[in-house]
Amino acid sequence: MKKILIIGSLNMDMVIGMKHMPVVGETVLGENPTYIPGGKGANQAYTAGSLGGNASMLGCLGNDSHGRALLENMKRSGTDCSGLSQLEEYPTGMAVIYVNEEGNNSIVVIAGANKACDVEYLKEHDEMIRESDYVIFQMEIPCEAVFYGIERAKELGKTVILNPAPAPENLPDEILEKVDYLTPNETEIAKLTGKTEETLESIQAGAGELLGKGVKNILVTLGSQGAMLVNEEGVQQYPTRKVDAVDTTAAGDCFNAAFVVGLSEGMTNAQAIRFANTASSIAVTRKGAQSSIPTREEVDEVMRMEKR
Ligand code: RIB
Repeated sequence: MKKILIIGSLNMDMVIGMKHMPVVGETVLGENPTYIPGGKGANQAYTAGSLGGNASMLGCLGNDSHGRALLENMKRSGTDCSGLSQLEEYPTGMAVIYVNEEGNNSIVVIAGANKACDVEYLKEHDEMIRESDYVIFQMEIPCEAVFYGIERAKELGKTVILNPAPAPENLPDEILEKVDYLTPNETEIAKLTGKTEETLESIQAGAGELLGKGVKNILVTLGSQGAMLVNEEGVQQYPTRKVDAVDTTAAGDCFNAAFVVGLSEGMTNAQAIRFANTASSIAVTRKGAQSSIPTREEVDEVMRMEKR
């Protein structure tokens, strides 16, 4: 089976539920603070393993109780954790997540050990990049490491997926031209392309600009509206099934990893997007990041029911 390597962050999420998010200067009452394994890289690696992908992860943790809990949880997904580093000199990364009544979130990330997932660390683990077929990046580790990793993966002929989250103001053209799949959400593509609107027309225009810069495929996640794929064949929209969302945390991570698992099994773009839409539509009905990720059996079962 084709190999998937996820390079990125691992965080312990502190999740706080509340009626509405506080605005500047406001105090609100929160409830049920819980610690749940998260981090965009780790969520994607956990999903890839849980869905039966041949997955490995590169990233850094602290040698502390959060780090140990994250490692144990990741091992349960079946993803190969042998490349993960546990460091004495940093605490494990953390995220504070506010979830409002509608299930939408606001996130603050404290990098901690994710800072050590740098160019040097990637050079030390070059063998894992060499051995992989698909390499997935997000942007919660140092930017230079993401750029180095993308260049190295492309040099080795790998399929490169960049989930630009959190989104920078822009990405260098020499990086964009090496990306096979860029997977922003509607807010991230607006930021990347300097747009003020998040309408479908504006998203499509932004995707067109990125295509002009050499990205092969722009796959935009649109929340309850599904996903849009823009490539040289044109623009295609893929609606998703309607569900009652309770928490959208990690839905994008779930989508990204499920999409790549689909590709690694030989699915077409369209088939892999439908598979990913289904996986993330299940994730939003559950609370938390890795706690919301479905198993392969659950995704297959929903897809079977949808076909009837
Ligand atoms: O995408 C969701 C993730 O973003 C959370 O798990 C949190 O850790 C932040 O990285």
